[in-house]
Amino acid sequence: MCGIVGYIGNGNVYKILINGLKRLEYRGYDSAGMALVAPDGKLSVYKAKGKVSNLEDYCSDKSLDACAGIAHTRWATHGEPSDNNAHPHYSEDGRLALVHNGTIENYKLLRDALQQHGCHFKTETDTEVLVQLIEYIRTTNACSLVDAVREALNQVIGAYAIAVVERDNPDTIIAARKSSPLVVGIGNDEMFLGSDGTPFVEYTDKVVYVNDNEIAVIRRGEPLKIITLDNREAKVDVKKLALSIAQLEKGGYPHFMLKEIFEQPSTLTDCIRGRVVDNGYSVRLNGVFDHQDKFLNCNRMIIVACGTSWHASLLGKQLIQDMCGIPVEVEYASEFRYSNPVITPRDIVIAVSQSGETADTLAAIQIARQKGAFVYGISNVVGASIPRETHSGTYIHVGPEIGVASTKAFTGQVTVFTLLALSIAQLKGSMDQETISKVAGYLLRIPELVKETLRLDDKIRQLSLIYTYARNFLYLGRGYSYPVALEGALKLKEISYIHAEGYPAAEMKHGPIALIDSEMPTVIIAPKDHLYEKIVSNVQQVKSRGGSIIAIVTKGDTVIRDLADHVLEVPDVPECLTPLITSIPLQLLSYYIAINKGKNVDMPRNLAKSVTVE
Ligand code: AGP
Ligand code: GLU
Repeated sequence: MCGIVGYIGNGNVYKILINGLKRLEYRGYDSAGMALVAPDGKLSVYKAKGKVSNLEDYCSDKSLDACAGIAHTRWATHGEPSDNNAHPHYSEDGRLALVHNGTIENYKLLRDALQQHGCHFKTETDTEVLVQLIEYIRTTNACSLVDAVREALNQVIGAYAIAVVERDNPDTIIAARKSSPLVVGIGNDEMFLGSDGTPFVEYTDKVVYVNDNEIAVIRRGEPLKIITLDNREAKVDVKKLALSIAQLEKGGYPHFMLKEIFEQPSTLTDCIRGRVVDNGYSVRLNGVFDHQDKFLNCNRMIIVACGTSWHASLLGKQLIQDMCGIPVEVEYASEFRYSNPVITPRDIVIAVSQSGETADTLAAIQIARQKGAFVYGISNVVGASIPRETHSGTYIHVGPEIGVASTKAFTGQVTVFTLLALSIAQLKGSMDQETISKVAGYLLRIPELVKETLRLDDKIRQLSLIYTYARNFLYLGRGYSYPVALEGALKLKEISYIHAEGYPAAEMKHGPIALIDSEMPTVIIAPKDHLYEKIVSNVQQVKSRGGSIIAIVTKGDTVIRDLADHVLEVPDVPECLTPLITSIPLQLLSYYIAINKGKNVDMPRNLAKSVTVE
């Protein structure tokens, strides 16, 4: 959560920082601010509640001359979103300014101690403790800024990515990381800092991913230096940033979310590319191929994830159990990490995360590793923390997902789970070759079938008008369609703020059926699969209680057509691939309902794209 940007060089510091913040705004957007250091050493901090555009307005009559600077877009954890609590925070004498992503767990203790030494605090944030502590150490020990930062971070418990600048020191930015992402971009005579590479993609593709417990010393005219918290010099490992500016733009769509929904035929092609080989005869994932013994000897898999990634994981469980006969458990990463899990070296833990930075999922990985499990990652962002912390894994390769509500990442994750299950099944011989080739062949056709499904767009837009003012929604599905129901409900509540619940269709009669009346629409995901007859009964149960029904059905379905108020017909695919198709109309439905209500679908209230705090 939150985005950090930094720059030192001869370019227009203010412009680079403000544009960088706009690119990172999807990570947090309750307030924004920046600290500029002018060539004469003057340090100015500008902050504004709300969007980055508010900060831009606020800065319009300010002095913006600078040769270095840091900036921040916040997702509040401690203290309400306000001008005052916005970052950067000043130290007591105004000498230092600091931005921070994360949470400082022992901030109360440190705050009390600093207060006893005469420090006054101006904000409610945990962050202010850090900047005051650094200044206190710098003054008391008469040490360098980097030593003061290092000493302070050794006293801190929590998660952070920070950047610090100092008055009268216009040639230095000090940055550090533990559990929150931080990347340095190396340009020609200039250096950049970002929570990811998006703020500086047009300036350089040379990046250094700062590791946990490392401090980056960024000095004008000097090569980047990285030291560890215990003061050893670390290797500066320059990598190539795999990102283009076109991927970060809306490409003619009014919102990133709609662009990302419509991109799915091509993102799924990218996701499958090179993985179904030998003319569709076999499936090859290098992450599995290179560790065959682990997969052949695996007794059990545990999948850990959060949010939409957790829904994709429920589908992963069904796919792996059906195709490979391996027992699979799915856990919320936040619960798993504190559950004292029983893990054996023959367990494989699969961590799923679009951003690759989710704090709970990262912590779950650490626990799994400590307990001796082989950890496999499924992620989108190349070079993010999760792919770096896992033993092996697969990227979903769907390109940057900017809309906070995940769409193309979900279908990418489900596609990778399908490929994973097929490749393990092939390795183990748990599925006959003919069936593997048949499913793989269908998978190759999925992008084209998703494109066909997207033609429902207009129909769904019309339909959304009828349901815009519903106060509650129920989403029902069975088997492979149950996680799709959960994901459909999550999409709706995230961006339209309408309460929606996803439920296994048969479980409805054990409680939620009490809610059904003419005011409460039910969305039923009912493709032709082995549970079709069963779900028809569930449709009847809703119907006979006066509920209105929107049903997602396979093309040509006549039975549900007669029962439902509205049907959305989707192409016929094998049962295990239905989620890749049935989830598409649900994404569009939630998008249009939210748009009708005038909501900001790309940046829904209270949410952030990358949840790097607990
Ligand atoms: C999805 O629409 C959400 N905004 C959210 O649930 C998200 O999937 C969750 O925070 C996990 O993120 P990750 O995949 O980056 O780990
Ligand atoms: N904990 C800090 C705050 O509430 C930083 C939050 C963030 O990552 O934006 O201000």
